[in-house]
Amino acid sequence: MNSDSTILVTGVSGMIGSAIAKQLLDNQMPVRLFTRDANKLKGFSTAETVEGDYRDIPSLDRAFAGVRAAFIVSGSSAPGDRAKLHRNAFQAARRAGVPYVIYLSFLGAAPNSKFPMSRDHYESEQYLKETSIRHTILQDSFYSDLAPKMFDRSGVIKGPAGDGKVSWVGRDEIAEAAATLLSTEHDFIGTFPMTGPSALSLAETAEVLSDITERQLRYQEESIEQAYTWRRTLGASEWEVGAWVGSYEAIQAGEVAYVDSSLGAILGRPTSDLASYLRARSHLWHGLVG
Ligand SMILES: NC(=O)c1ccc[n+]([C@@H]2O[C@H](COP(=O)([O-])OP(=O)(O)OC[C@H]3O[C@@H](n4cnc5c(N)ncnc54)[C@H](OP(=O)(O)O)[C@@H]3O)[C@@H](O)[C@H]2O)c1
Repeated sequence: MNSDSTILVTGVSGMIGSAIAKQLLDNQMPVRLFTRDANKLKGFSTAETVEGDYRDIPSLDRAFAGVRAAFIVSGSSAPGDRAKLHRNAFQAARRAGVPYVIYLSFLGAAPNSKFPMSRDHYESEQYLKETSIRHTILQDSFYSDLAPKMFDRSGVIKGPAGDGKVSWVGRDEIAEAAATLLSTEHDFIGTFPMTGPSALSLAETAEVLSDITERQLRYQEESIEQAYTWRRTLGASEWEVGAWVGSYEAIQAGEVAYVDSSLGAILGRPTSDLASYLRARSHLWHGLVG
């Protein structure tokens, strides 16, 4: 393989990383896969693989050596710690002289966001900018793919989101956009909100899902205190509970209501709204059907 043309994709056992890598491989691009556990990879028998972790700097140096573009997924760890992990990756890319990097951020990333992960993304974005690597930051809204998973068994979304809206965006469309940016010449340098074509409140989201599943689903407002109380009984760590509740608070604050045309511009076609995206992917919601 000519390493000068290699594209590095991280998070390839995950949903978005695997989709990007598959698309690049389908287009005959030379791809290097980065994962914490190569045994978890499925369907990548022909691709070069580097095992490693954002915590393991030598593994990052091996991964970034000689690549011409890299997709850096946001990983999983407590906010603040996670940004330091991303910094490790950005700095390895700079040491290796990687000409172009995509970082997967979040819509409305800001130091004062109600959503702890959004504050972490803001910090991560600053670390990337400090490296001066030519880059694209994709600020994803909440994935349409996750909307059906927000309902509990009785068909209710509970959270302190009020009438705040979400500009739901399809994860597959983000993956396609990232693969396009990694493999073609383009002018999308900088920070781009990645949203669907419209924004819905959680009550409206429940109406859309009710229509699709032919089951009566609904949104139920709860206070921040109520939201913490039952989530704390589920065994998640305190930062995970804080991120979960904070995601609803960010919706209420209007942080993820913004609608932008950048994703459609990259794809060269209109983006899918929540209903059309989910209707085309019944596997995402068949568990909700009553
Ligand atoms: N916009 C949204 O609605 C939304 C929702 C959920 C999550 N997210 C964010 O978007 C990211 C991608 O979404 P997804 O659905 O593809 O998530 P996912 O399926 O959980 O994949 C994330 C991948 O990140 C990699 N990763 C985690 N910690 C790492 C570390 N310390 N070092 C190296 N790699 C690490 C892992 O890949 P390997 O196992 O292959 O190492 C993991 O599979 C998530 O990680 C999260 O930050 C966004």
